[in-house]
Amino acid sequence: MAEEKSKAMNVSLEATAKAAADTRAVAEFRNVSRIYRMGDNEVHALDDVSCRFNAGDYWAIMGSSGSGKSTMLNLLGCIDRPTNGEYYVSGTAVSTLNDDDLSELRGRHIGFIFQSFNLIPQLNVLENILVPRFYLEDPGIGLVERARDIAERVGLGSRTDHRPRELSGGQQQRVAIARALINDPSLLLADEATGNLDTQTTEEILELFDELHSDGMTILLVTHEEEVGKRAEQVMRLKDGAIESVAYNRPTIQR
Ligand SMILES: Nc1ncnc2c1ncn2[C@@H]1O[C@H](COP(=O)(O)OP(=O)(O)O)[C@@H](O)[C@H]1O
Ligand SMILES: [Mg+2]
Repeated sequence: MAEEKSKAMNVSLEATAKAAADTRAVAEFRNVSRIYRMGDNEVHALDDVSCRFNAGDYWAIMGSSGSGKSTMLNLLGCIDRPTNGEYYVSGTAVSTLNDDDLSELRGRHIGFIFQSFNLIPQLNVLENILVPRFYLEDPGIGLVERARDIAERVGLGSRTDHRPRELSGGQQQRVAIARALINDPSLLLADEATGNLDTQTTEEILELFDELHSDGMTILLVTHEEEVGKRAEQVMRLKDGAIESVAYNRPTIQR
């Protein structure tokens, strides 16, 4: 009897936790379209997409080339704006913001990682990590300390005064990840972040994502590689600018 009662209690606690999580959307699309116009031609790169990503989620966004993955990520990252529909970042409707406010929101909430790292060759590791701070109105104090901590966190503690060309591809991507983390984003976005890396280095970067995810970071990772997609908790597949399917990955065995 007592056992049954506690079971019921657990279920209701679980339901409560779920309901709470549902109100914690970090990013939400409501009927979002992105149409590229070229002369008389229109490309519906995203077509009336609605979805939400909650705090602590780890998603892989998959689909063949041209399916709209990068378009979706660029919208999520506020690098681009929807043609139609509404995008909410942590509850703020992006359409209500002017370009300056949108940059500020992007700086505060979003970390972006690219396939080609996009580091500044003249700056060392520490300076590269600090770059996003220069775009914020109030860059804050204790920054260099924080940058060092994050460099340490991504395994670059002993490389902070190296320049990008003195680093391997995997190390360069670690710098890019550290740079994406410097503003303590609510959302970490990665577009084919392991696309330029060999299998071993890909594994190391994915392990770093695993760690960030278990620390509570919300991660959305675009990839066309099944092996990479398997590492996320949930997979969204896009086809011709629409959501084809959404599925949970089987839980991975804890090592
Ligand atoms: N800047 C652009 N101008 C015109 N068409 C574009 C532009 N960017 C992407 N597209 C088109 O939108 C569709 C989706 O592209 P994209 O989001 O880059 O796909 P994916 O990242 O899945 O390969 C494709 O048909 C692509 O050709
Ligand atoms: Mg792409």
